[in-house]
Amino acid sequence: MRRLGILISGRGSNMIALLDAARKPGWPAPPVLVISNRPDAAGIAAAEERGVRAIAIDHKAYGKDRESFERAMDAELEKAGVDLIALAGFMRVLTPWFVNKWAGRLVNIHPSLLPKYPGVDTHARCLAEGDLVHGCTVHQVTAGVDEGPLIGSAEVEVKPGDTPEILAARVLKAEHLLYPRCIAAVARGGGTREREDIGVSGDVVRLWAPR
Ligand code: GRF
Repeated sequence: MRRLGILISGRGSNMIALLDAARKPGWPAPPVLVISNRPDAAGIAAAEERGVRAIAIDHKAYGKDRESFERAMDAELEKAGVDLIALAGFMRVLTPWFVNKWAGRLVNIHPSLLPKYPGVDTHARCLAEGDLVHGCTVHQVTAGVDEGPLIGSAEVEVKPGDTPEILAARVLKAEHLLYPRCIAAVARGGGTREREDIGVSGDVVRLWAPR
């Protein structure tokens, strides 16, 4: 069993997907702590409602000293016995110190089919390129932003008339399917990647996730 910590910055819908998956029998990584760098994040209450301890560590209190902010997070993660971290909409770039310390135990979900569109505004960039397929990727975190070995991905169709908001909502459905599968596989020590097509309220999500 791995003890899961989840880092968030906002609404935490991916965190909720993980917490809901964690209630099912056989889940290998019980969530023990949620940390938000924003005290007003809606995800804090959502975690508490699901019986998971959630705290805020405000990065602003540390000014430009990113490493001291991370050392404060790290102390809480260690105290809670966390040994696997899922970034779920955590909007801070982590320093090499934190990334190296948690190497192999630090996972992120990104709303594009990496290596396409690292960084922000992924949905608008995908539409501007005229892509037919978009999606999300789960990957190990390394020092480069949105780099690191890929664990799984999920594809959705780009439809005529899509706006960045419509496309973001379709990708988010895929994120909620993909992230729990990938975190469970990492917690179990790996898995073979399998393709699975799942219909979710009018959309088809094509998963490439380890099992
Ligand atoms: C998701 O699209 C995630 O991929 C990205 O930020 C968004 C966070 O959404 N990194 P939520 O807070 O999980 O709802």
